[in-house]
Amino acid sequence: MRDPVVVVRGGTVLDATGERQADVVVEGGRVVAVEEGAAVPRRATVLDAGGCVVAPGLVDLHSHLRQPGAEESETVESGARAAALGGYTAVVAMPNTDPPVDSASVVRDVRSLARGVPCHVAVAGAITVGRAGERLAPMAELAALGVRIFTDDGAGVQSASVMRRALEYARGLGVTLAQHCEEATLAAGGVMHEGAVSSRLGLAGVPALAEELMVVRDLALVRETGARLHLLHLSTAAALAALSDAKRAGLPVTAEVTPHHFTLTDAALVGFDPVFKVNPPLRPASDVAAVRAALADGTADAIATDHAPHPPEAKDRPLDEAPPGMLGLETALALALTELEVPLSRVLALLSWQPAAIAGLAPDHGGPVAPGAAANLCVLDPDHPWVVDPASSASRSRNTPYAGRRLRAKVRHTVLAGEPVVVDGEAQR
Ligand code: DOR
Repeated sequence: MRDPVVVVRGGTVLDATGERQADVVVEGGRVVAVEEGAAVPRRATVLDAGGCVVAPGLVDLHSHLRQPGAEESETVESGARAAALGGYTAVVAMPNTDPPVDSASVVRDVRSLARGVPCHVAVAGAITVGRAGERLAPMAELAALGVRIFTDDGAGVQSASVMRRALEYARGLGVTLAQHCEEATLAAGGVMHEGAVSSRLGLAGVPALAEELMVVRDLALVRETGARLHLLHLSTAAALAALSDAKRAGLPVTAEVTPHHFTLTDAALVGFDPVFKVNPPLRPASDVAAVRAALADGTADAIATDHAPHPPEAKDRPLDEAPPGMLGLETALALALTELEVPLSRVLALLSWQPAAIAGLAPDHGGPVAPGAAANLCVLDPDHPWVVDPASSASRSRNTPYAGRRLRAKVRHTVLAGEPVVVDGEAQR
């Protein structure tokens, strides 16, 4: 059988090298031509990209896919489908599963669950056994299997000596550690950001200082060890300022921010609705402004979703009992294009090629759309209004904080390894 041919026709190609009007011809999983008015072979599937931008597929550094162990919330397959609908061709699956990804066998299990799903799933490993923060996970064994990122996300590594050792190992192995920056004794018991709103509501808060302290500590450890560190979901002005100084000093550090931290404030909690409970918590407007500024000036390297599905029976509980987290994969790109005052090329850098580089997935993901490149593509319509409807999500969960929100841009098609997995906004598998 001959390889299928796909022609993405009539769009504007936009990648890290710039922008041009061109059709993209794909065959055998690879881009074979990028040119205006490309000949369309008779057997080709044509994807209409009129009025659209054709970009490298998006890459999410932070997806909770919940398998193994919490299949009622999400599966690798349902999460991958949500990702494809959101324009992603690759996601990094977080290791806070049950059991956690702290052994070669669980890495293999998640990879086998990811076979045939409509988005590439890169598995992140835990830094410590059981994510308990005490003994290092067998990082060398996992790295030998191709694991590029290690994190105890859901919790930060509290012990400075464990973190220092982990960074030393990571440096030797050439892998990246990703830290959930939260000092646990300061954060303990908090259900939202500690500030004027939490005082008014009489709720226990997580102070901004809990994030800043761990960021400052870890930046000092990076300075000492020289290891690469990625800071997950930064949400405070102080942490971003510390990051900015560290970057100026040349430290090998990167950071992500989430759509919810640039679109929502802690005022969302006034109705005590647990859909707005997330960790790190939604912050006041001054922090939201700092997150937006960090996206605009390059302090933040990536927008990551922290897609954290929870089923209604878990989430629809009193605020102090409900788990933190919100869906993100299907809305991240549209929120960025609707809410951020930065050029489209910068939004795509933040959602595609920069996270691809951090995850070690470039150039297959995030690389320039050029002959010979892997055909992982996102075709987005920057001018397609739609309203978020939780009921139509591909996720097994419904906990989006954006229900009813009008957004301005939509993914039209997603192509994974040469195969259209989303066509006209519909998942194909
Ligand atoms: O809100 C969150 N939910 N933050 C985390 O760090 C973990 C995540 C989850 O796994 O639900």
